Amino acid sequence: MRLFIDTANVEHIREIHEWGVLDGVTTNPTLVCKENRNYTDCIKEITSFVSGPVSAEAVSMDAEGMIREARELSGIAENVNVKIPMCPEGLKAIKVLDGEGIMTNCTLVFSANQALLAAAAGATFASPFLGRLDDIGNDGLRILSEIVDIYKRYSIQTQVISASLRHPQHVIGSAMAGAHIATIPYEVFKQMVRHPLTDIGIERFLADWEKIKDL
Ligand code: E4P
Repeated sequence: MRLFIDTANVEHIREIHEWGVLDGVTTNPTLVCKENRNYTDCIKEITSFVSGPVSAEAVSMDAEGMIREARELSGIAENVNVKIPMCPEGLKAIKVLDGEGIMTNCTLVFSANQALLAAAAGATFASPFLGRLDDIGNDGLRILSEIVDIYKRYSIQTQVISASLRHPQHVIGSAMAGAHIATIPYEVFKQMVRHPLTDIGIERFLADWEKIKDL
């Protein structure tokens, strides 16, 4: 499973990129709004050092507008893919963009039926939102599993991005379910790297090294 970061904060992206574990980035208008930045400038800066897929979101509500935005956004850099919301207009846009070779990420997917439609239209990626499903009492991981199983069964090429992840257990569950990609918030990356036994272990090794270093 490849690891993306789900943020528009360039410092956070740089930090995780420097760990050597980052395969891509997903953004959305809410994440860019948190940074209070121009969307295009933000995506340009991210693509200046991230070579893997970077998602930027279209905000038009009609297929024509989505297609126009997608052409502009994908022109920022060759690794930009365009997030298109799951809806009839979105499906129409994905179909056209697929024909033009523009990569799309069908976003706001909440069911296996929606994921089937995204794939049929030709989406490069489909993003089921686990956390938001859990928030309303559904089981995000179960729906992710259904999508992964169906895609596998029919050798569907669309890649599943497990999104709206809230904690490290969501990441493990996504990997166990066979998601191609997990897009992970910065804070969750920080939780993933830590373990109290690792901290204790390092402390003990350093203390013992102090005792023997001059022998
Ligand atoms: C996915 O690409 C979205 O940006 C994201 O995961 C949304 O998650 P949220 O539910 O935390 O807003």
